[in-house]
Amino acid sequence: MDEAAANKRIHWLRREINDHNYKYYVLAQPDISDYEFDKLMEELIQLEKKFPQFYDAHSPSQRVGGQITKNFKTVQHKYPMLSLGNTYSKEELKAFDKRVQKNLNAEFEYVCELKFDGVAISVTYANGVFEKAVTRGDGVAGDDVTNNVKTIKSIPLKITAADIPETFEVRGEIFMPRKGFEKLNDIKSAKNETPFANPRNAAAGSLKLQDSSVVAKRHLDCFFYVMIGDSLPHNNHYDNMRQLRFWGFKVSDFMVKCKSLDAVFDYINYWDTKRIDLPFDIDGVVIKLNDYAQQKQLGYTSKSPRWAISYKFKAAEVSTRLISVVFQVGRTGAVTPVANMAPVQLSGTTVRRATLHNAEFMQKLQLHEDDYVFVEKGGEIIPKIIGVDIEKRTLNSKAVSFPEKCPECQTYLVKKEGEALHYCPNENGCPPQIKGKIEHFISRKAMNIQSLGEGKIDLLYSKGLIGNFSDLYFLTYEQLYGLENVIIDSNSGKKRIIKFHDKTVQNILKGVAQSKEKPFECVLYALGIRYVGETVAKKLVLHFKSIDNIIEASYDMLIAVDDIGVAIAQSVISYFSNPQNLKIVEELKSHGLNFCIKENEQKRSGDALSDKSFVISGIFSVTRDEMKSLIESYGGKNVSSLSSKTNYLIAGEKPGPHKLEKAKALNIPVISEKTFKEMLKNT
Ligand code: IVH
Repeated sequence: MDEAAANKRIHWLRREINDHNYKYYVLAQPDISDYEFDKLMEELIQLEKKFPQFYDAHSPSQRVGGQITKNFKTVQHKYPMLSLGNTYSKEELKAFDKRVQKNLNAEFEYVCELKFDGVAISVTYANGVFEKAVTRGDGVAGDDVTNNVKTIKSIPLKITAADIPETFEVRGEIFMPRKGFEKLNDIKSAKNETPFANPRNAAAGSLKLQDSSVVAKRHLDCFFYVMIGDSLPHNNHYDNMRQLRFWGFKVSDFMVKCKSLDAVFDYINYWDTKRIDLPFDIDGVVIKLNDYAQQKQLGYTSKSPRWAISYKFKAAEVSTRLISVVFQVGRTGAVTPVANMAPVQLSGTTVRRATLHNAEFMQKLQLHEDDYVFVEKGGEIIPKIIGVDIEKRTLNSKAVSFPEKCPECQTYLVKKEGEALHYCPNENGCPPQIKGKIEHFISRKAMNIQSLGEGKIDLLYSKGLIGNFSDLYFLTYEQLYGLENVIIDSNSGKKRIIKFHDKTVQNILKGVAQSKEKPFECVLYALGIRYVGETVAKKLVLHFKSIDNIIEASYDMLIAVDDIGVAIAQSVISYFSNPQNLKIVEELKSHGLNFCIKENEQKRSGDALSDKSFVISGIFSVTRDEMKSLIESYGGKNVSSLSSKTNYLIAGEKPGPHKLEKAKALNIPVISEKTFKEMLKNT
């Protein structure tokens, strides 16, 4: 094929593929098979490879992603991204309507829309071409997630209509349909990764992935619900939304104009029950004044428009039978009561378990065997028991009581004054505590041994190969090869077989060996000392430099360290006064794990900022992360929100107005990036 013919074919293929994408992802009416579609795409990819002179960043072939974003650039919004006032009450909606009537004193109409439960996004188009996509952030500036958003196939990369404004912005909600969410969580559980709590979190997490080719596989989608720009085609919201749809954007079919509040209520009532049938989550309805001139007349409060409001649905609720209450023991020994219930459908998923939190919560519910309980599901995937249907209680049924002994190892439970939870004190002899500690030890922020996971740890423990985490370093190929286990997922009831093949064993041993390189702060965190999280571990390491110094530190020496309080100090002392723990540390030492801070980790650029705390806001000549490490390397502290203890607010370009106001109110000096850099020189 010569160049001219290739050019023609490439353009034809792009148009054709865009059209099929539109039919499939926007209209949900594909007219060719997946196979035929894949063949067209394959041909386009091959031709673009052979004729790189026809490269186009907006070709549909670019949707497979591949671009890596290390740090998402902070981008200022041209128009701030406000949020909506919301309400759960129809009375408040009446009051909203009264205010609108009073302020306009003229005819008006509302547009009612679904309130999609996802992540807000703003996409800018220039000359019909997708330019950039930015998250809401703090409303003033957000993250540039262009590479990731381009992989969402329902969002046009190029619009060909003749009448489009030179530049405009569309805003909408990126979401993950429920089916895609369930698939993703299945994959995550199979890999022993923590599943996402709900489709919203899954969408938000996916949008922040560094590798856009992974995002491309995440089944994200987007509904648009706002158009902004200087020369929009129509003077009202509804017509502009229709226009957007005409240009190929995905706009919900369920948007209606309402002339009265009664019509608004009808819309709300309809969707409160029908939302279950939608393939994605909504958490309410949005009511907007349609006419732009009238919107302008009503204006804005400091946070949200006065011309719109969202009505949020109450969490869904069902009643079901209690089958049993089990008492789960976690890694710290905390005992959590969990209710097993007869499976029941709630907001699109099957619910069979719910946490009962602690003894006090159980006491309040006064649960009895075979009780019928009311279960509620709000924003989270974990359902909540909110009460008991006393009328359905059977005669003579026994109250469910909290056990005195650990259900796993029969040790008497303890409950400290002022704490909500009961604990099993047998930390080195109680199986779930031992396994939990090992799982914590291998977790990502600790030793990061990704080749192991809950299932594998279970197997190694049940075969008697590991009794604590230092045993991991004794494992050999011969011990591991050929081990097998069947696991039943406690939530889904699905069976899974784990078998240690050659590759699995090699990966495990490699992961364990590589973990020896982890720095001291990770090792200290991995030990799982109560209250010693990542940040505390870092502080202790920086201060004491070696494990021996920490072991020898007295209570007074510990609490003299910045941010180390009574509870942490006591917990550290108690951990190292247990001979079994000291033995584990000795073993780990003998395997070569890092128990001292290394030369280069100690390096500090200076002390110019010691004991000073900073909040940063706006855009800087370096990334925000670089600003933070700069502050820390000069001994300063970077904190996220302003309080009376903050010493300075460093304001970059376009700082957040709320931060500026708060700094002023608290009398905190606001300094520029330049002044800040001068402070560093004054060492
Ligand atoms: S309009 C100035 N319409 O809800 C108001 N927002 O609490 C601009 N949302 O940040 C937003 N569905 O993420 C609008 N049909 C809809 C929406 C919607 C969901 C989200 C959006 C916004 C939040 C406001």
